[in-house]
Amino acid sequence: MRSTMGLSWKWTALFSLLGAILCLIGPALAVKEHEFKKCHQAGFCNRNRALADLAASQSSTWVSPYKAVFESPSLEDGKIQGVILKTINAAGDTVRLPVTISFLESGVARLTIDEERRQNKDIELRHGSAARKERYNEAANWSVVGGLEPALKAEIVHQDDSQINVKYGPEGNFEAVIRLSPFRIDFRRDGVSHIELNERGLLNVEHWRPKVERPEGEENTEEDESTWWDETFNGHTDTKPRGPESVALDISFHGYEHVYGIPEHTGPLSLKETRGGEGNYAEPYRMYNADVFEYILDSPMTLYGSIPFMQAHRKDSSVGLLWLNAADTWVDITKVKGSTNPLSLTSGAPKNTQTHWISESGIIDLFVFLGPTPQDITKKYGELTGTTAMPQEFALGYHQCRWNYFSEDDVKDVDRRFDKAHIPYDVIWLDIEYTDEIKYFTWDPHSFTDPITMGKQLDSHGRKLVTIIDPHIKRVDNYPINEQLLALDLAIHDKDGKAYEGSCWPGNSNWIDCFNPKAREWWKGLYKYDQFKGTMENTFIWNDMNEPSVFEGPETTMPKDNLHWDNWEHRDVHNLNGMTYHHSTFEALKSRKKGEYRRPFVLTRAFFSGSQRFGAMWTGDNLADWGHLQTSVTMLINQGISGFPFSGADVAGFFGDPEKDLLARWYQTAAFYPFFRAHAHIDTRRREPYLLGEPYTAIVTAALRLRYSLLPAWYTAFFHANRDGSPILRPMFWTHPSAEGGLAIDDQFFLASTGLLVKPVAEKDKYSADIWIPDDEVYYEYDTYNVAKTEQGKHVTFDAPIDRIPILMRGGHIIPRRDIPRRSSSLMRFDPYTLVVSVSKDGQAEGELYVDDGDSYEYQDGQYIHRQFSLKDDVLSSVDAEGRDTRKIKPGKWLKAMQNVHIDKIIIVGAPASWDREAVQIESDGRAWAAQVVYHAADKDRAAFATVTHVKARVGDDWSIKLA
Ligand SMILES: *[C@@H]1O[C@H](CO)[C@@H](O)[C@H](O)[C@H]1NC(C)=O
Repeated sequence: MRSTMGLSWKWTALFSLLGAILCLIGPALAVKEHEFKKCHQAGFCNRNRALADLAASQSSTWVSPYKAVFESPSLEDGKIQGVILKTINAAGDTVRLPVTISFLESGVARLTIDEERRQNKDIELRHGSAARKERYNEAANWSVVGGLEPALKAEIVHQDDSQINVKYGPEGNFEAVIRLSPFRIDFRRDGVSHIELNERGLLNVEHWRPKVERPEGEENTEEDESTWWDETFNGHTDTKPRGPESVALDISFHGYEHVYGIPEHTGPLSLKETRGGEGNYAEPYRMYNADVFEYILDSPMTLYGSIPFMQAHRKDSSVGLLWLNAADTWVDITKVKGSTNPLSLTSGAPKNTQTHWISESGIIDLFVFLGPTPQDITKKYGELTGTTAMPQEFALGYHQCRWNYFSEDDVKDVDRRFDKAHIPYDVIWLDIEYTDEIKYFTWDPHSFTDPITMGKQLDSHGRKLVTIIDPHIKRVDNYPINEQLLALDLAIHDKDGKAYEGSCWPGNSNWIDCFNPKAREWWKGLYKYDQFKGTMENTFIWNDMNEPSVFEGPETTMPKDNLHWDNWEHRDVHNLNGMTYHHSTFEALKSRKKGEYRRPFVLTRAFFSGSQRFGAMWTGDNLADWGHLQTSVTMLINQGISGFPFSGADVAGFFGDPEKDLLARWYQTAAFYPFFRAHAHIDTRRREPYLLGEPYTAIVTAALRLRYSLLPAWYTAFFHANRDGSPILRPMFWTHPSAEGGLAIDDQFFLASTGLLVKPVAEKDKYSADIWIPDDEVYYEYDTYNVAKTEQGKHVTFDAPIDRIPILMRGGHIIPRRDIPRRSSSLMRFDPYTLVVSVSKDGQAEGELYVDDGDSYEYQDGQYIHRQFSLKDDVLSSVDAEGRDTRKIKPGKWLKAMQNVHIDKIIIVGAPASWDREAVQIESDGRAWAAQVVYHAADKDRAAFATVTHVKARVGDDWSIKLA
């Protein structure tokens, strides 16, 4: 959370008044764009764009000056190693760039390019800097956790003076054609080129060179050195002790018009072109984690987090790319009519998407994914960078936050009022004001005198508390945390090696350096219950401002020449910084008490590839307006396909007071956010759901109840995200990769594999939704069971008055629910289940339920229930989804308790008339009994449906029901 002024809450009244006056006279809220660089204001971006322009202007004569040499090339451990020679002048002098191309068992290929001279530390640093001399090569240490087994079957199938062909891939149908001079790689699948590196010759590794001191007035006539040695932006000077060192490469996606990914941005899912022209951006997409509050919509500007992972999709084919570099990174995208793709004859006039990746420093380290399905791409990416941690189950419930609940009494009062209004919630949050003058790990001595009693009240109905802990540590005497941080030398250093000082919420601060293993150990200790007094088992943590945000810093963050542990420059690791902090807190929560082995919950604002392993993210300081509501859906879909599905946006907008219709629509939308949290700026009016007045309180309550009833489906979705990296909000291209009309649709999604197709209403005064239908399956309205009048590839209109959410149920799915409204998710743990079966056109359906104790790691020892439900040939049945013999699992406490939990009710939508009967037989474990059926014949638009009640089938057991 971020304010335009760092005022304490005592000033709230005055501030609100001022705010009201400013609103009357001032322009609408918007980020101060000029505080952030444009490409032309970042020397390295500008230089690489200029190179691209030069190459384009010389198109047919441009030759990339990079040539690869492989001495007697061979594959060892799936790797081929050599050197790229970069010709640096007319005399033909070259610099050596060691190159490795690795082929992995998973079918992913990896390319790394370093610089020999820097590797050997054979350079001079300027300004007496203590920075490391090498190019940063440790991003993979933080991001990559698996998937690196070499492809032992990869083989060189051809080589001559100009190229080397390597065959690899799970089916042996991938091929890398490595051209030596100029260096290029063409990645092919089934003989067709999909991804090509350096096709346009924009590979650029800015090699080390000494600064030549010239007499005043004399300039380098060959090259423009103006941004090589230091750069000033908005009064901040970056000393750049290693001189120019950017890396860049062009990457073409042949025959692909759509590319997605590289969050976090506010534009459409299908990324736009960035080189100007009507409807395009004029700036590249930027990834440089920053505190960009009140951010603007439809922009390639950087935001709080970065995932440098892109996937390209066309009908029936997906490929992907991970550019593993944590420095300031810009990506230009252009699309050109393509002819290189032989498929173009059959699929109209596809475009080639050309991308240009530009990072300020570090090595080139990229991974190429050849698909062919979107599922392959997300799975392989998940193998490399890890998948979503199994969440605490409560974390899928509703979170009530604002800046700030000001006292224990305030918290307890909100808690009571939710109960009084019968509105469910799981977690109440404390923003910075709970601390003693923003000294983390302390409590305000006047307003939070007895946090344990408060925590216990919450715990008495299964609720949790989340408190904020940020990475800036107040620099003040008599604050032991700061004293230890400095005494142990665990802070990020400035360029001169002193603990870096900057300002954030507490005023003058230092920042913990979580790249330092000692700092991470120390951080762990701080969270122990006897250290962070006032916390208990139901306290969890929120990590904000971890880009890091520095109020007066360059682009609201740290100077790039700051130094981290091991003397890496901040420049090299910037985009990783937030993840190392988030990771440290995650580990800290795992070790709060000896023998306590529970899943952490930590929310982060900054993120990078791999952050999904440590908790949830949210999209930062949005605005209470309709545009931000719309954008949130697209942003969360993009997070999901980029490997980080546990994501949310502040409901109903952080800045500003939402009108009530907006607020109602926002809750209806957020009922489908993987992370569902209300949050509001300190200057906004209170907007807890019970305050809204009717009909709004009822509308919001209904949305919350819908969320809670579907929690079994949500939890199952997270289980899959954990197992294979699959997204939870699934865009049309992901679920229907052959449906060409859906490739750019980014305002509707399927909820995991439930078949629920949701299109939130995110427009003022709009009371219907046009839902695009990807296939010719039958679709039922979720709440009425009406059969939607759908046609494949066309929109269908769904009536959506203010109290209705457009949700269709695709035929062929079985959705688990819990229908008894409760105050929190943990109070529902042993409630009976309802199954909703939506019968497909051919009379079938399938679904899944995964459930475990929602808190511990005992699921790793088989303590979970995982059912596969199916309807086939008039028989509805449940079997273990993994084919386990569940009777052989020794049940622990939780699994024992689940033996008394039943499927209570089954609703079958689209039930054929042959099922019109009053009772059915249920068989389970050699026993049989009858359950009652009520059959409702089809009525006008409404499908026929049957309700089976008193089913009494144990949820963990095999059972079957013959319906006809
Ligand atoms: C990073 O990973 C590499 C390769 O596994 C390893 O050699 C190196 O020691 C690691 N660096 C750190 C700081 O852990």
